[in-house]
Amino acid sequence: MTKILITGGCGYIGSHTAIELLSNPEIEVISVDNLINSSAQTADRVGQIAGRNMKNYQVDVCDKEALSEVFEENPGIEGVIHFAALKAVGESVEQPLRYYQNNLLSLINILDCCEKYEVKNFIFSSSCTVYGEIDQLPVTEQTPTKEAASPYGNTKLVGERIIKDFIAISENVNAIALRYFNPVGAHDSGLNGEDPINKPNNLVPVITRTASGMIPQLTVFGGDYATRDGSCVRDYIHVVDIAEAHVKALEYLMEGKNEDRYEYINLGSGNGVTVLEAIQAFEKVAGLELNYVVGDRRPGDVGAIYSDSSLAKEKLGWEARRGIEEMMASAWKWQMNLNEGVAV
Ligand SMILES: NC(=O)c1ccc[n+]([C@@H]2O[C@H](COP(=O)([O-])OP(=O)(O)OC[C@H]3O[C@@H](n4cnc5c(N)ncnc54)[C@H](O)[C@@H]3O)[C@@H](O)[C@H]2O)c1
Repeated sequence: MTKILITGGCGYIGSHTAIELLSNPEIEVISVDNLINSSAQTADRVGQIAGRNMKNYQVDVCDKEALSEVFEENPGIEGVIHFAALKAVGESVEQPLRYYQNNLLSLINILDCCEKYEVKNFIFSSSCTVYGEIDQLPVTEQTPTKEAASPYGNTKLVGERIIKDFIAISENVNAIALRYFNPVGAHDSGLNGEDPINKPNNLVPVITRTASGMIPQLTVFGGDYATRDGSCVRDYIHVVDIAEAHVKALEYLMEGKNEDRYEYINLGSGNGVTVLEAIQAFEKVAGLELNYVVGDRRPGDVGAIYSDSSLAKEKLGWEARRGIEEMMASAWKWQMNLNEGVAV
């Protein structure tokens, strides 16, 4: 069995990646998630969909001793995917120290464990926010990184830098930073999706909760950006596509196909969609009208960002396969299952 440890395995992207990893009977998945933004039921959902369980340790990755015990209990871990982080842009503006402490200390601890327990392959959940306010689109991996527009974004930028300095002295570890654009949607089964414990900040859960009447009205942040319709342009990407990319990135490292010991790869669809277009796609697949208003800009948001995804194709043999309507349809199926108690 190949043992893979994922931090944040009960979170949105971690749980979908666990399902994809478990579809390979040769892989055992160990998760470390303190459930600060998720619930223990997610591990059950993963098991239900995959037909095999992942074990979740309810441990804070910032707790070095407890994290080390997980590695002691599970010798021979071959790869680590580090998803665990706090991720709400607006909250990070209000609570910068909490974000720096959680996101950076957890990263330092997990890298330390990788070195100590001789884990050779490390994947980091980074973000397109590392590119900051960009001058040229689409964004390639050569686009210079800039100070991000929020403390959250800076934890990713500094996180990437920490990994770079660490890899330079590490005896064992090879790493990839996957820079996600905007992951949305849910598992095709409708049995797993985004269900944040804290107030949702990402567009799609706010859309589906508004459509369900849980949120009275959706606010589109900003209608005066220099874009087709004034709303922000984002590169939405189906979460199952993202999950598949992690499996490929892990295989790529494990097969020694990487040219450098630390590589950076964008994960996007390559297509920019405005927030208003995303809402229209939802209204079409759900067959209803959404109650929304266009409000002020949100601090920390950039106007337009979408990826050039050719490097992921070239290196990992991966490209996004699912479009915006499929993303919205899967998210809506998941929300309806939650509403009807089919999924818990
Ligand atoms: N969802 C996005 O739009 C997006 C975009 C770019 C990058 N990312 C990054 O991808 C990763 C996963 O994001 P997600 O959307 O699945 O978020 P999520 O909040 O659903 O999942 C993160 C998980 O990590 C856990 N966690 C947080 N801090 C922890 C700690 N100190 N110890 C143990 N567990 C901890 C949370 O409980 C949660 O289950 C994050 O690093 C995020 O910054 C997400």
